[in-house]
Amino acid sequence: MNNNQLIASLIHIDGVSEEDILSLLTQPKDLGYADVALPCFRFAKALHKSPVEIANALAAEISQNLPSFLLSCTALNGYLNFKFSRENMAKETLLKVLSECDRYGSSDMGKGKTICIDYSSVNIAKPFHIGHLSSTVIGGALSRVFKTLGYNVVGINHLGDWGTQFGKMIVAYKKWGNGMDVEQGGVKALHKLYVKFHQEAEKDESLNDLGREYFKRIEDGDPESLALFAKFKEVSLREANRVYDRLGITFESYNGESFYNDKMQPVLDLLAKKGLLVDSEGAKVVEVGDDMPPCLLVRSDGATLYATRDLAAAYYRKNTYDFDKCLYVVAYQQNLHFRQVFKVIELLGEPWAKDLEHIAFGMVSLADGTMSSRQGKVVYLEDVLNSAVQKAKEIIYEKNPNLENKDEIAEQVGVGAVIFGALQNNRIKDITFSYDKVLNFDGETCPYVQYTHARANSLLEKAGAFDPAKANFSALENAHELVSAIASFGDTIKAAADKREPSVVTRLAVDVAEIFNKYYIDNRILNAEEGVREARLLLTFAVKQVLKNALSLLGIAAPNKM
Ligand code: ARG
Repeated sequence: MNNNQLIASLIHIDGVSEEDILSLLTQPKDLGYADVALPCFRFAKALHKSPVEIANALAAEISQNLPSFLLSCTALNGYLNFKFSRENMAKETLLKVLSECDRYGSSDMGKGKTICIDYSSVNIAKPFHIGHLSSTVIGGALSRVFKTLGYNVVGINHLGDWGTQFGKMIVAYKKWGNGMDVEQGGVKALHKLYVKFHQEAEKDESLNDLGREYFKRIEDGDPESLALFAKFKEVSLREANRVYDRLGITFESYNGESFYNDKMQPVLDLLAKKGLLVDSEGAKVVEVGDDMPPCLLVRSDGATLYATRDLAAAYYRKNTYDFDKCLYVVAYQQNLHFRQVFKVIELLGEPWAKDLEHIAFGMVSLADGTMSSRQGKVVYLEDVLNSAVQKAKEIIYEKNPNLENKDEIAEQVGVGAVIFGALQNNRIKDITFSYDKVLNFDGETCPYVQYTHARANSLLEKAGAFDPAKANFSALENAHELVSAIASFGDTIKAAADKREPSVVTRLAVDVAEIFNKYYIDNRILNAEEGVREARLLLTFAVKQVLKNALSLLGIAAPNKM
């Protein structure tokens, strides 16, 4: 139990559950007042008493039997104020970190629950561009957050590997491409072919028909077309995996759109049987309400759509994994698409429709004005990572020329900066990405957090072995803010899961780093007197551990030196 839960269990008010109390507990901005407070205004009506009377009565009752983790329980203006025993809280928190280390912050609250997370979901034969950065790192972070809370997580890369564009690719490849170019040039070469196809098709309409014909051949299982399609997929995935490795991303499933080719008909049949599938100028649609256009599922030429495959995928996931939640980490541009798909499932009467959630996020653009789609200029994610690492290298060679493994650390710092930069704001915000901003060692950035971790580590190395049993925790009264931040790590992870919001974790990491750096200026650690020294070293250890665990949740390495 954490402190808030312990407090909630002390408060007994008729008709109010412990959960209600827990949700009402607040942390005042000014910790001098109280560490946690309960506003009693909500209870006035039911109890026929004023909030002031209620708070006073509760304070008197709880103070009579004050548990050891509390220093005081008092009432003020209708608020019930709790102060923790700082010494005890420091002791409990730091010893917990010491005994749990890499597990600190984890829990088993999700035990027995399955959560599917559809993320990254790149498109085959198309650039893995900066637009996929957010989905990839938000989805990756959420996967780790839920795993840390004991959930069974199924990470799904719903590959965009179906559609007429693959017929066009085959035509382009047969006309202008060759195996060598594609083998060496990878997706860039494939993308070039695709661009060329569209240029040529402007002049020669018949190419589009040919493209459709070749797509039909893929659908019909023509060996030559299938082999080429498989080749494109292999080349694309090889490149994507290179990026995933650097970002620390893994998936449980790569079932993409093509996987659902033979799984759409049963869903269409079900819709027809329920009378939900209606003809509209030769096409088949489902009416999804007045506030949305109908959901188009079969085109007049018989072709299925992105939405049709998403419907089949939702059923497949429910049947295969029996998920408690299925999250789709996809840009907000697809809001309408998901509202339509979820509505269709609701209309089908599936009770699990409510467990489908679109986790939307904003757009990423580069500060220097290059934005993927608008100017037709594609910014490859791999190039962004390479540039960030290159810049990190320059900084590190200048700052710390004697450091060993400079290149390895530059990779960790550069890639970390990109990930952290993409996770730092509320996900729904659009972000303008700037290398200088994310690589600033003194800002609210990844290098700052990593650097603080390395600093804590070097302090501990200098100290050598020490005996935690000698720690005098009363020496940490002035470190209460830092101890509180460390103690809140488990709740932070839960909040990140509840809100599906990795920025909650980046925020805590920056806070812990900032508070520690301030503490470190004002308090001697290595040459403090016995007892004080051990307590402060233990605090330093906990800072290092929490920063490491937080970064690891985000998929970021915590180098010991930098
Ligand atoms: N491939 C799509 C895109 O790049 C994203 C797919 C998201 N997942 C899904 N189940 N629709 O826009």
